Amino acid sequence: MSTVAANPEIPWTWLMLRTTGIVAIVLLTVSTVIGIASPAIRSPKVRLVTISLHNAAAATGVVLLLGHVVFAIVDSYVSISPLAVVVPGASDWKPLWVGVGTVSFDLLLLLLITTLNRFRAPRMWKAVHLVSYALLALAWVHALAIGSDAADLPLRVTALVGLAATAVALVFRQSRRAPDRPVPATRVEEFV
Ligand code: HEM
Repeated sequence: MSTVAANPEIPWTWLMLRTTGIVAIVLLTVSTVIGIASPAIRSPKVRLVTISLHNAAAATGVVLLLGHVVFAIVDSYVSISPLAVVVPGASDWKPLWVGVGTVSFDLLLLLLITTLNRFRAPRMWKAVHLVSYALLALAWVHALAIGSDAADLPLRVTALVGLAATAVALVFRQSRRAPDRPVPATRVEEFV
């Protein structure tokens, strides 16, 4: 990326499209990993810090993602209409893989809207929050399928580290799950 940055031939909009996409996907991955692990943290103080980090990483990731889609529209090399930001397949350029990014973006919008209304519809928020897994997986497929840096080691290693961290967070959460309450012996007889 550094040699590319120094090359005046490379349009700055393309550099910004790639940079905002990469930083956004890293922040969304960090936010997801923290979001998975934080409910399993027992200390209320530590949990408060992790939830704040989760929100901060998600919010910053969303802002950078908005920059990413704006640069995707502005950049002259790829012809992407504003419609392609929310309608999968509407992009003239690589409609399938940009479309995968669009589906991910739409899921993020859904997650954002339910988060902003979570006090009015907490159950809906909790259920919809599960789409974050699909959102992230689709975003990484999109990035690795069409990204200019997809063939480079740093982005591939980042994807692997993100995947491993997500797996570790899921195992940590599962290991901290309160064991299902054993049914008291007396009651068992009632069912037999
Ligand atoms: C959650 C949604 C999305 C995320 C996290 C995301 C992230 C990324 C990442 C990390 C790359 C690879 C950049 C590189 O290799 O340098 C990329 C490439 C790209 N994305 Fe997205 N993207 C998303 C949605 C979209 C949408 C909705 C559009 C279009 C409307 C879009 C347009 C593009 C384009 C044109 C490229 C190729 C840029 C290049 O590397 O030359 N992305 N995206």
